Amino acid sequence: MKVLVIGPGGREHALVRSLLSDPTVSEVHAAPGNAGINKLVPSHAIDANNPDAVAALAVRLDVDLVVVGPEAPLAAGVSDAVRAAGIPVFGPSMAAAQLEASKAFAKEVMAEAEVPTAMAMVAATAEEAAAALDTFGAPYVVKDDGLAAGKGVVVTKDRDEALAHAQTCFDAGGTVVIEEFLDGPEVSIFVLCDGRTTVALSPAQDFKRIFDNDEGPNTGGMGAYTPLEWAPPGLVQEVIDRVAQPTVQEMARRGTPFVGVLFVGLALTSRGTRVIEFNVRFGDPETQAVLARLKTPLGGVLLAAARGELDQADELRWSKDTAVAVVVASENYPGLPKTGDRIRGLKKAGELDGVHVIHAGTALDDDGKVVSAGGRVLAVVALGSDLVEARERAYDGVELVQLDGGQFRTDIARKAARGEIRLPSIHTSALPIVAKKA
Ligand code: AMP
Ligand code: GLY
Repeated sequence: MKVLVIGPGGREHALVRSLLSDPTVSEVHAAPGNAGINKLVPSHAIDANNPDAVAALAVRLDVDLVVVGPEAPLAAGVSDAVRAAGIPVFGPSMAAAQLEASKAFAKEVMAEAEVPTAMAMVAATAEEAAAALDTFGAPYVVKDDGLAAGKGVVVTKDRDEALAHAQTCFDAGGTVVIEEFLDGPEVSIFVLCDGRTTVALSPAQDFKRIFDNDEGPNTGGMGAYTPLEWAPPGLVQEVIDRVAQPTVQEMARRGTPFVGVLFVGLALTSRGTRVIEFNVRFGDPETQAVLARLKTPLGGVLLAAARGELDQADELRWSKDTAVAVVVASENYPGLPKTGDRIRGLKKAGELDGVHVIHAGTALDDDGKVVSAGGRVLAVVALGSDLVEARERAYDGVELVQLDGGQFRTDIARKAARGEIRLPSIHTSALPIVAKKA
């Protein structure tokens, strides 16, 4: 089959790489791609957020499947246009993508589907924001209601800072969601959905803050690893039963079936598992780590989801290895990143045992050299027999990559490798994980 992958980032490079290793995939195209993707497959310089442009390209290339990577084209209706052109597409409709594009909508669906999540209030004015902050108390959680590339959330003990973030969102014409603070470790679970059936991928953990020890502002994600040996054994089933399946059923009931990845961001709190957020796409950089372990050919699974036939797909098979992805970002990220700098050492890093480099914000300059072109520039991904080995390999790779002002965290997966992740007592008790409602 022929597949077209939409998007410019690391997630899309990882998707392309996995699709190329699927024996049933004869050809992969990308739009717009990046320097890493363009080296592997033909890439097309179209506006990936323009539904008509993407649908026209898919028709012209006569592809059998379109895979939409990022949230922006999904929210813009790219999947609807491709579907209308009669081509199977892995990615939700504009209506279903509201689960990510509007946090208020996501909360409404979760309430309807009885999905456990943080208590929340929507605020449109400074007075409403102040009242909501005082209802929940510190630490304060203030979220821009719209799409913000992972940077619209402020978690702080400083009430003035929380109010100031809300005001920034109001000034930009938006509203905010203010919610209770969720304690406990965070987990990302990607659930493949075909509108009815749900299949979970192996859980991963992301590192959102820019600096070591979870300090500094939020980013799109600075690293990831999978699987999570410390996670409660029933977690994936719990997420299918209490989160993914009820959400997919509710979306179908509303006449807006969900096809694509439901990315469930969870906190394992002292009061039980809670959804922090939904995204409607693969996570970045978790995908770089998760797909590195997937042995089942990816194209067949995504096509089955796009066609509503996930119930007929084979059970997913996973490598026994552990995968770690470490992101290298540009100077000043997550602020306005410095771009256009030469990146050296990519080939050497990729030649290390068990290591490959996934490009994110990269481009070729006039001399055909790889330069930085975005905030998160690349991820070094390593497989190893355990976390210690995978980390060692990933960081050996990172050390070989040279980028002026490049930033990376040195503590990706470190706590887990040292066995230092503590689950709140509810998750370590002998009680069944799935609590029945009284
Ligand atoms: P979101 O964009 O909703 O994923 O939020 C980004 C990050 O902010 C999450 O990964 C968490 O680290 C943090 N966060 C969001 N909501 C909460 C919450 N209710 N309690 C604690 N941390 C949160
Ligand atoms: N890494 C989190 C995200 O993709 O939103």
